[in-house]
Amino acid sequence: MALHASPFQLFYFLVEWFVLQVLRLFQGPSPRTEESVQGKVVVITGANSGLGKYVADEMAKRGATVVMACRNMVEGQKALEEIKRNSGSTTVELSELDLSDVSSIRKCAASLKSKYPTIDILINNAGISLDCAERRFTKDGFELHLGTNHLGHFLLTNLLLDNIKKASSGRIITVSSTAAVMSNLNIDNLMLENSGLGLGNTMPYNNSKLANALFSKELGKRLNGTRVKTYSVCPGLARSNIFQHYSTTGKISMGLGKYTFFLPVNKAGDIILFCALAKELSISSGKMYRFGRQFSSIEPLLTDHLATALWEKSEQLVGIQ
Ligand SMILES: NC(=O)c1ccc[n+]([C@@H]2O[C@H](COP(=O)([O-])OP(=O)(O)OC[C@H]3O[C@@H](n4cnc5c(N)ncnc54)[C@H](OP(=O)(O)O)[C@@H]3O)[C@@H](O)[C@H]2O)c1
Ligand SMILES: *[C@@H]1O[C@H](CO)[C@@H](O)[C@H](O)[C@H]1NC(C)=O
Ligand SMILES: *[C@@H]1O[C@H](CO)[C@@H](O)[C@H](O)[C@H]1NC(C)=O
Repeated sequence: MALHASPFQLFYFLVEWFVLQVLRLFQGPSPRTEESVQGKVVVITGANSGLGKYVADEMAKRGATVVMACRNMVEGQKALEEIKRNSGSTTVELSELDLSDVSSIRKCAASLKSKYPTIDILINNAGISLDCAERRFTKDGFELHLGTNHLGHFLLTNLLLDNIKKASSGRIITVSSTAAVMSNLNIDNLMLENSGLGLGNTMPYNNSKLANALFSKELGKRLNGTRVKTYSVCPGLARSNIFQHYSTTGKISMGLGKYTFFLPVNKAGDIILFCALAKELSISSGKMYRFGRQFSSIEPLLTDHLATALWEKSEQLVGIQ
């Protein structure tokens, strides 16, 4: 499978990846002044686990009204109670959202829209990652990764947009990954039809993460002139549950990383918080970040042409115009 990135771009990427890694180790996260979220409405998808749960907790501690949008209401309820106890906040709530089901997304968005006329921050965090040999599908027949990670968030964001535009300084953060660099997204074959995936294939995930970054960039462009800014972010490899659906071999290799060099959840989650809160980023839009710094080697892959084509195709697929 041909990659989007040229050998030169991959080389540039590796160099920048390494530099950011070194900066993180020796300088820590870049310093920031935080925008206040006291009384603001923050919606986080996939907030029952991993990075999303950490971010929800931190937002609750800072006095935000936090909406945890989760598909597993049992796990969601557990996380909600833990966050309430931990943060002392009473303004945390749960909303049911299955991003692999268009009707569930529409239902969730309708309920949030009527409950919260203004939404200040939307964090598109939920994600699924498999390494299985066969394609899997969402309820509406989309390839599972593209359908959940990209199309699900694409639809949710568009449905909530009017409410986010009412915010004094709205932010939309989409959690992508540097895995986006190793992708081969084809607009004419988004669902990877007739692609033999083979064992241990993470291409569908990588493609969905490129789609996340393209979406954030195109959205930033479309929102130019409004008060809403967009950010995509790679949180780094983290000790979350993201690899729980991997094959045994996949789990073993990821397990090695998990217990050695992967970031603790709070450190990776903080990288998402940076994009949601840093005043330093308040005039920037559409860019990708990693370890609290701009990740510019991905930019050449995010061409205007591809971003616009993906946007238009996504509109058709989820049925909005
Ligand atoms: N961890 C890493 O190394 C890493 C690296 C780069 C990027 N990321 C990105 O970081 C984000 C957060 O992942 P994580 O690492 O915190 O993993 P995680 O612990 O597995 O959390 C993922 C969350 O997404 C939710 N989710 C999955 N499918 C969903 C669906 N159909 N509808 C609604 N929610 C759904 C999960 O809900 P359930 O509990 O119901 O499954 C869970 O709450 C993801 O976008 C991931 O791609 C992670
Ligand atoms: C997906 O990206 C990761 C890097 O995050 C890479 O290790 C993996 O090989 C990529 N998958 C494919 C099929 O290229
Ligand atoms: C917004 O528009 C201005 C002026 O037209 C331009 O300079 C800027 O680059 C645009 N920003 C984005 C994110 O497209």
